[in-house]
Amino acid sequence: MSAPVQENWSSRAAFIFAAVGSAVGLGNIWRFPYITGENGGSAFILIYIAFVIFIGWPVLVAELAIGRRGKMSPIRSMEKVSVESGGSKNWKWVGALGSFGGGLGLLSFYSVIAGWVLAYIIKAATGMFTGVTGGAAEVIRDEHFADTGMMVFWHLAFISLTIYIVGRGINAGLEKAVTYLMPVLFLILLVLLGYGIAEGDMNAAVTFLFTPDFSKINMSVALTALGQAFFSLSLTVGTMLAYGSYLQKDMSIPKSAGIIAAADTGIALIAGLAIFPLVFQYGLTPAEGPSLIFTTLPIAFGQMTGGVIFGSLFFVLLAVAAITSSISLLEPAVAYFVEKQGFGRWKACFFAGGAAFLIGLLSVFSFNIWTDVMPLSFLGIEVINGNPATFYTIIDFTVSNIIMPVGGLMIAIFTGWFVTRAAMRDELDLPEGGLFSLWHILVRYVCPVALIIVIVWGLMP
Ligand code: TRP
Repeated sequence: MSAPVQENWSSRAAFIFAAVGSAVGLGNIWRFPYITGENGGSAFILIYIAFVIFIGWPVLVAELAIGRRGKMSPIRSMEKVSVESGGSKNWKWVGALGSFGGGLGLLSFYSVIAGWVLAYIIKAATGMFTGVTGGAAEVIRDEHFADTGMMVFWHLAFISLTIYIVGRGINAGLEKAVTYLMPVLFLILLVLLGYGIAEGDMNAAVTFLFTPDFSKINMSVALTALGQAFFSLSLTVGTMLAYGSYLQKDMSIPKSAGIIAAADTGIALIAGLAIFPLVFQYGLTPAEGPSLIFTTLPIAFGQMTGGVIFGSLFFVLLAVAAITSSISLLEPAVAYFVEKQGFGRWKACFFAGGAAFLIGLLSVFSFNIWTDVMPLSFLGIEVINGNPATFYTIIDFTVSNIIMPVGGLMIAIFTGWFVTRAAMRDELDLPEGGLFSLWHILVRYVCPVALIIVIVWGLMP
């Protein structure tokens, strides 16, 4: 079956907005601050930045380059680029693992958390957090979890929005959404940063984030940082392969990847600088884990002047960040269905998005009716990384600790060892030596070694 001709990004800015929009998500504004908090702040940030530069950037370059060279869905692009270099068609399975296991797997629970964010916009805007204490904030969260119908409703709402945007196509859908939403995201972030400066304890936040304490660095902190770098840059699940395939030939990939990585990291840091001043101002603790955003911050907003407005804005910011990311999780699978199965785009979206919705229900139920259901207990697995091994924990662990690092490893090995240097030099438009050699050494040796360590360590009990 002949594949339909792919759309292209209509401008350089459209591509950068889309890729930064994908990268900047719950990972930056929800996960980065709490992981940083749990891992002692500044030391974590330093290694994180090193990993973004030396491991994230090379893999991002590799994915964009393979995507653009293949000019097809992530699955077929892997196959095509491999065949071009005289390699096996089986590399397409790496694209399939990413697009389906990674992309749809991640989307399934990303949407549940994003739905939670949507619900919190309303809670914040209706003043539910005004004057709440720690206990009350937890009650609000637990009541939200307990309401299965509401959780399903918000999850469905978020997936539907994602399907709507992706269904409209690259130019009329993804590109249009990010062109409106990314400036909004940036503006809200700056407003919240200003609010943190005005109302919060910025000194404590800056000390926490930027005074390095190397005694806090150990193996597990390093591995968390690497996992977060991959997650935050949207690597290994087909996203950047797909976005690269819509990229025109005359744009520099190494430079674009640099801009994307810098913007993603910058926004994560600004998010930290907006959030931690509020946390410290009210004597709250930064190391609350995932609850940092959903219980600690509401307490802070509940005590501040203008807390209703700025609290609502904060959750709007999270929602905007989440939607510009979720569309990039759905796109790889949709691209495949459209191309290979000859589905119409809408049909492909309902199919893939519907699958993510259904799998996501397992995560929804993990927070209420199935909190005690441990699906792997027959293997003796009841706890994973200190969390009860519910469906949600298992799906998150499988995607974040297995599919993503294994996918990253495969892409690094593929690009570094199987694709010819000439093909990559051509695609990156770089001469031999200099930046090209540096990049090639990083994907060929540094990335695989680092990723093997992550995988082995991550699977150890
Ligand atoms: N990068 C996004 C975030 O930080 C999430 C995301 C979107 C993602 N697409 C991805 C993560 C692809 C991994 C792979 O929230």
